[in-house]
Amino acid sequence: MSEISGAIGIIGGTGLTTLAGLEITGTRTVETPWGAPSSELTEGRLDGQPVVFLSRHGNPHRIPPHEVNYRANLKALYDAGVRTVVGVNAVGGIHPDMGPACVVIPEQIIDYTWGRPSTFFEGSLEGNLDKVTHIDFTWPYDQAARDILAQAATAHNVSFAGFGVYGATQGPRLETAAEIRRMERDGCDLVGMTGMPEAALAAELGMRYVCLGLVVNWAAGKSDHIITMEEIEAAIEQGMSGVRHILEASMADLGALTALPQPS
Ligand code: HPA
Repeated sequence: MSEISGAIGIIGGTGLTTLAGLEITGTRTVETPWGAPSSELTEGRLDGQPVVFLSRHGNPHRIPPHEVNYRANLKALYDAGVRTVVGVNAVGGIHPDMGPACVVIPEQIIDYTWGRPSTFFEGSLEGNLDKVTHIDFTWPYDQAARDILAQAATAHNVSFAGFGVYGATQGPRLETAAEIRRMERDGCDLVGMTGMPEAALAAELGMRYVCLGLVVNWAAGKSDHIITMEEIEAAIEQGMSGVRHILEASMADLGALTALPQPS
């Protein structure tokens, strides 16, 4: 199996099943001790930088958030030589600055998911890391990578919020208005279904991880109407080009970062 050392991993979420602009050099179907990842790995170059792209919900989009094999996805990227991962996530906006089509680069996460296999440190499967470690998870997102994404957004005039607490819910249903009010009291600014356990698994493998969120709707109760698929699709249509710009414009700097040792 080939391994592109130093490649940036991009996990595409809803609305980003394939990555336009990626000069594809190959696709590989892989297996891990944790099972099959959601999609084949697409290898190529984005702005000259080696990239491995994976579609979180499969290609075509078919795997709901609670059934994504997050462990296989992260392990497949790790085995392909990836040490820096950008997770692209569609999210709902809770904070008043986070309306549809806004890009968000959160700095924190609160996990409301349940029942998802969420650690590599269990069982006796081949591929387990050799000893149980309680990883530090104070800062779930890599600060240097966040800065790079924010600079790219500024340079390309993409409207973005460079802060926020991501509340990760179980789904696949959307939330009630009361659940969103509770999350707001907890300090959440955005809500999505795929932020966890992805971020924690990346940390367990010692990978840099950063989230690039695209707000696709106001969270439940935050607008005067119910949430519709039409609204979500319109926001994806409007906002995804900004996400692509940011990804492309940040590749060189993320590549340089990947060459540096991970801060402890
Ligand atoms: N809630 C949870 N997940 C989401 C939402 C939402 O409103 N929008 C996109 N993903």
